Amino acid sequence: MLNPTPTDVQTRSLDPQDWEATRALAHQMLDDMLTYLQTAGERPAWQPMDSAARAPFAGPLPDQPQGLEQAYHDFVDTVLPYPLGDTHPRFFGYVNSNGTVEGMLAQMLAAGMNSNTGGAAHAANLVEQQVIDWMKGAFGYPAESSGVLTSGGSMANLIGLAVGRHVHAEKLGVAVRKTGMQGIPLRMRVYVSAETHSSVQRAVETLGMGTDSMCVIPVDADFRMDIAALEAAIAGDRAAGLHPFCIVGSAGTTNTGSFDDLEALADICAREGLWYHIDGAIGAVGALSEHMAPLVKGMTRADSLAFDMHKWLFVNYTVGCVLVRDAAAHRATFALTPPYLKRAERGLAADGVWFSDYGVELSREFRGLKVWMMLKSQGAARFGEMIDQNNALAAYLAALVDADPLMERLAPVAIHVVNFRYAPAGLTESQLDALNDRIVIEIQERGIAVPTRTVVRGKYSIRVCVNNHRTTSQDIRILFDAVKSLGAELLAEMAQG
Ligand SMILES: Cc1ncc(COP(=O)(O)O)c(C=O)c1O
Repeated sequence: MLNPTPTDVQTRSLDPQDWEATRALAHQMLDDMLTYLQTAGERPAWQPMDSAARAPFAGPLPDQPQGLEQAYHDFVDTVLPYPLGDTHPRFFGYVNSNGTVEGMLAQMLAAGMNSNTGGAAHAANLVEQQVIDWMKGAFGYPAESSGVLTSGGSMANLIGLAVGRHVHAEKLGVAVRKTGMQGIPLRMRVYVSAETHSSVQRAVETLGMGTDSMCVIPVDADFRMDIAALEAAIAGDRAAGLHPFCIVGSAGTTNTGSFDDLEALADICAREGLWYHIDGAIGAVGALSEHMAPLVKGMTRADSLAFDMHKWLFVNYTVGCVLVRDAAAHRATFALTPPYLKRAERGLAADGVWFSDYGVELSREFRGLKVWMMLKSQGAARFGEMIDQNNALAAYLAALVDADPLMERLAPVAIHVVNFRYAPAGLTESQLDALNDRIVIEIQERGIAVPTRTVVRGKYSIRVCVNNHRTTSQDIRILFDAVKSLGAELLAEMAQG
């Protein structure tokens, strides 16, 4: 056992030994990243990593210091050239956010403060609370509801369903935190549509309800949950002695951007006494656009509402949110206060906002700052305009597709997602699938643009999601022309055998 005297103890921190050199390097990094964003459209939209590019990531743990300058050079040489690509104006994959300059700077500021937003009395928590309150106000969701910023829509869906499960178990006289699902004698049923995002299934599985609890309702021609089929399923489950528990409505589905009839689902939940969760990961922020008001109608009736700022608010990864109408139920689902987290009358543990009482994380990143700074910097109205702009660009692409006899649109365009395929006459369905698969991969690998692929009603689809504040109509045209010319090129290749 060491028994050191104060003079024996080494007290070198991890701070730079040369602050001036570090400051100069930090300025260089900031400058480089601003240039990187300013020139986002000048690079390939994406490029594959060959084995030489991957090799540095198999290197050993550095035992001895290499210095920040070397670490930064390694980043510039090996990491920066191979991004996911979502800062690019022609990134149309998944439902990815571009991020913003404000978001980048705010992440640096938040990291500098190194705030842990799990709880306690400090301003970072007030920033997060203010962001949540702003969103409640923008949606018209009750001011007394609770909310917590999350890593994204998946976590927001999990939290919303967890609160619903807790409340429903209570109605059955079961303390689910104590008994777990073993205490619940009936199978709880969660109604989702065939287009509901997979994170809802993951939440159902994680909460121990099992996928047997999920009742998947078919969708109508517009990819919205079929209301008559839903009502029949609930009645059938009750007759079979099962326990209808929750309906999950979608405000913007991933495949096609469709919105369920949120008002009709709210009516059914009210009539049947069911928990109403809405996955608004993509489309809840549509509330910021006047044009989308008909789609989000009924959204504020949700018991829990999940949404993402790192989708259609364009905030840098990661930040989502869940709002819960019954704040007490939200807290009762998660709060745990061991002695080391006990609240105090005064001091650091006094009158703070304890977000750790509203989710599964204790330590939490200060993710609210990037939303707060971006909304202050740009103003909320700007985001309504950006959403409209993205929808208009999607409508433009749909019009190009519809006007071209070689193209086939595969789904209605509700918001900013367009599904289509290159479909020259005379090919079988499987040849069309193979051809369109190749088109997507070639467009990605040649760095032209990044559409992704999906399957719509059994047909292989080129899926373009214009969730991108940098996209112009020229970018849409480039993508469209590339699909056509690659289609012709690959078709000729196929014909040659
Ligand atoms: C409709 C929908 N819900 C939930 C999610 C999950 O969100 P996240 O990736 O932020 O966890 C997504 C992701 O694309 C989504 O499209």
